[in-house]
Amino acid sequence: MAKMAASLVESGEDAFRKIFKFYRRRNPPPDFSDVIDFSKGAASDKVVPAKLDPAAVSDAEAARAGLQPVRDWRAFSLQGYPGFIFISNPFLLGSQPFWVRQCLKTYPQKPNVCNLDMHMSPSETEDIWGKSIHGLSCPLSGKRQPKTLLEKLRWVTLGYHYNWDTKTYSANHYTPFPADLHQLSVQITAACGFPGFNAEAGILNYYRSDSSLGIHVDESELDHSRPLLSLSFGQSAIFLLGGTHRQDPPTALYMHSGDVMLMSGQSRLLYHAVPRIVPAPQGHTSLEMEGCSLASSLQDNSVVEQISEQDWAVCSKYIQSSRVNVTVRQVLGPGQSFPETASYHQRTDAGQTDGYHDRPADRKMKRSRSCDSVDNDET
Ligand code: SIN
Repeated sequence: MAKMAASLVESGEDAFRKIFKFYRRRNPPPDFSDVIDFSKGAASDKVVPAKLDPAAVSDAEAARAGLQPVRDWRAFSLQGYPGFIFISNPFLLGSQPFWVRQCLKTYPQKPNVCNLDMHMSPSETEDIWGKSIHGLSCPLSGKRQPKTLLEKLRWVTLGYHYNWDTKTYSANHYTPFPADLHQLSVQITAACGFPGFNAEAGILNYYRSDSSLGIHVDESELDHSRPLLSLSFGQSAIFLLGGTHRQDPPTALYMHSGDVMLMSGQSRLLYHAVPRIVPAPQGHTSLEMEGCSLASSLQDNSVVEQISEQDWAVCSKYIQSSRVNVTVRQVLGPGQSFPETASYHQRTDAGQTDGYHDRPADRKMKRSRSCDSVDNDET
């Protein structure tokens, strides 16, 4: 039973693709018994406690970013994946709603870039939140409502804006990286042994319950000695972590709300994907119940602030069926600058897959990115 997904794979074939399809299958639904759940601790023999550096981040610094003291974080490594660190929800109770609000209300604002900008005018995408809150606050009626802009949001880029066509970043498409997210990233990466991390680019992915993210490697950044940081909020996901080749069968793990992942060292350039969004488990420390309960743990100079009940009403409605993932990247090493002609890119092996979300709104974009997506050929 334990090797259910891996046993599907024959030697030499694209094992990642096969296991991606296995977990993406709707009918019959797959067996999830191989999926590692870090919220249950070291429940698999592949999971080992990870060593952090609690001295690198004071309790006050952690709290200012909405994080528990580092000594209380439950951090894990995975055997066979050196440099991979998984931290099971290190957020202080009540601070996730702030980060969700930033992802839904603040970061999609100009000058940041989002998928809606590709086919809508700047005035139409000026106030995605404001234009969506009425629709999202409406109680469900029998009638099918048109989708709000927030529900059509698929990605937002921050800092050095990732160019999906050329798969590059460039010096001349940069807007200031959000200071609060920079703070959060600096504390987490320092605790994981990477002092001096500079958050320069961010990609937010917005997933509906039927979304997936195709198999890819994040290698567009010029300095791969710096980690890739990932933060997840809302519904859970199955995340597949593979090897350096598509023939390497990936390991499946759950990412729940508040979970943090770091890919560094030998794990920085591994294939990965999200084949499926799954409901947050019942009884799990639920973001939905955290609401606006932050006040008691707020620090002076905190980047995290109490969010209003009105904002929380919209955020909680959204995340009841959605997931938001934020990846934060340092693009340039110390003293490094962009080359004259950009030739660095996100790897997509010729003829293989690199699909982003599988919704009609993104199909045109996927073609223009000349990627043959798992999502497309699955449907
Ligand atoms: C990514 O690989 O860019 C995002 C993965 C995730 O959504 O967890």
